[in-house]
Amino acid sequence: MPTLDCRTLERPVIDRQLFERLVVAVARRIIAASDTLSELDRTIGDGDHGINMRRGMEAVLAGREMVLDLAFGQALQAIGHQIVGSVGGASGPLVATWFLTLGRNWPQSGTDLPIDAFEAALQAVKARGRSDVGQKTLIDVLAPVTEAIKSGLACRELGGLANRAAEATKPMLATRGRAAFLGDRSIGHMDPGACSVALMIETAAGLLAKAEERMA
Ligand SMILES: Nc1ncnc2c1ncn2[C@@H]1O[C@H](COP(=O)(O)OP(=O)(O)OP(=O)(O)O)[C@@H](O)[C@H]1O
Ligand SMILES: [Mg+2]
Repeated sequence: MPTLDCRTLERPVIDRQLFERLVVAVARRIIAASDTLSELDRTIGDGDHGINMRRGMEAVLAGREMVLDLAFGQALQAIGHQIVGSVGGASGPLVATWFLTLGRNWPQSGTDLPIDAFEAALQAVKARGRSDVGQKTLIDVLAPVTEAIKSGLACRELGGLANRAAEATKPMLATRGRAAFLGDRSIGHMDPGACSVALMIETAAGLLAKAEERMA
């Protein structure tokens, strides 16, 4: 039976139609949550996270026709370029780095699992932000999600895992990004970047899980 285990995402499993649905759903989810994301950022940052992410996702939506026919790795890189070209703030370059590195490392051969690509993308974001797990940033969602993908967790489990990881940033003390300036006052609030990454993963993994059910 074909499987959409998150390690095996590739065309032709993700065909053009499913790819477009993924791009549109993820972008719309972030745009719809823009006010909530900015509200989180108002509490422990400067209040622009929703605006930053919305701008990036509007660029991805507007430019999607240009990426849908590319090979999957190139399409991911093109999305990274669209984000970096449209989003200011700390989050834009970090999210863009994830897409660019994932795409650059996506296996040429359909038989290779993209485990190394997901790991490389995580490491690149860490390097870009000079950050690591436990600092109350989007890394605290990306890292456990990457581990889960590497260990073969089913797509239908991934959204819940990402949301729990975002929740788990609440009690953390921020030591990176603007929230670090707040010291102890950063404790008790969800990190906005962790929230938006969790929303993107929940949306993408949910759609992939449904596609998997249809294929079963
Ligand atoms: N050094 C870092 N490493 C990893 N993630 C970071 C880092 N700095 C910020 N972040 C993430 O970015 C999010 C904030 O993104 P946002 O779009 O609000 O940018 P910003 O911090 O306001 O940037 P700027 O100060 O340039 O406007 C944080 O919630 C955090 O998850
Ligand atoms: Mg901000």
